[in-house]
Amino acid sequence: MGTPRLSPSMMCADIFRLGETIRLFEKLGVSYLHIDVMDGSFVPNIMLGTSEVRQMREFSSLPLDIHLMIEEPGDKLEWFGPQKGDYISVHAETTRHLQRVLAKIRSLGAKPMAAVNPATPLAAIEEVFPDVDAVLVMTVNPGYAGQKLVPQTLDKIRRLRAMLDDRGLTDVEIEVDGNITLENAVQMRKAGADIFVAGTSLIFRKGDMEEHILNFNRELRNLDVCPTR
Ligand code: DX5
Ligand code: ZN
Repeated sequence: MGTPRLSPSMMCADIFRLGETIRLFEKLGVSYLHIDVMDGSFVPNIMLGTSEVRQMREFSSLPLDIHLMIEEPGDKLEWFGPQKGDYISVHAETTRHLQRVLAKIRSLGAKPMAAVNPATPLAAIEEVFPDVDAVLVMTVNPGYAGQKLVPQTLDKIRRLRAMLDDRGLTDVEIEVDGNITLENAVQMRKAGADIFVAGTSLIFRKGDMEEHILNFNRELRNLDVCPTR
């Protein structure tokens, strides 16, 4: 199991302090900037778009973790200027041609990630396990920050890790997104999660953001999690 990594959810950031926030993330070595793109159709909210993605790229060299919560993502991938090192996640629920879209993400130079909502069974993405570098398990129903964990998603993480390892896909990572408190992160890590989308539950909350991040690193990196791979 690699080092647990943070992907701060930029939709939760204070837009009036965005620059200094991103510089802090660079200093603390977070792995990605999580960009929630929402179209108001697949999820009941509209959030972050191509302009924010372009400006983030111009401002920081941190790779992007672009979470496409949009209908028919296959025709829109180029809009986000995929680059080597980026993750791009697409929801199984948003396209009839998931394997084609994941293959296209890879052909554009980014790392493909398949995402599933809490109610979507892992069977819906099992056939594309060989096509992804990661799977995104939504631990809340997507669309808003500040929601509560859907409890059965913890076991879903565990089952997913077992399914991937049984197929020898030990390098495929698991990302979790939604109500990642420190306590939930510990349980998710024990279940097999690798990348944690940090939002209002973990770092964008009262108190010192740097301290929250350092706390996460201390707590999660000291966890005695058997290296299953
Ligand atoms: C949910 C969003 C996430 C996340 C925000 O649709 O994709 O970015 O929930 O973090 P929390 O849940 O901690 O406010
Ligand atoms: Zn997200």
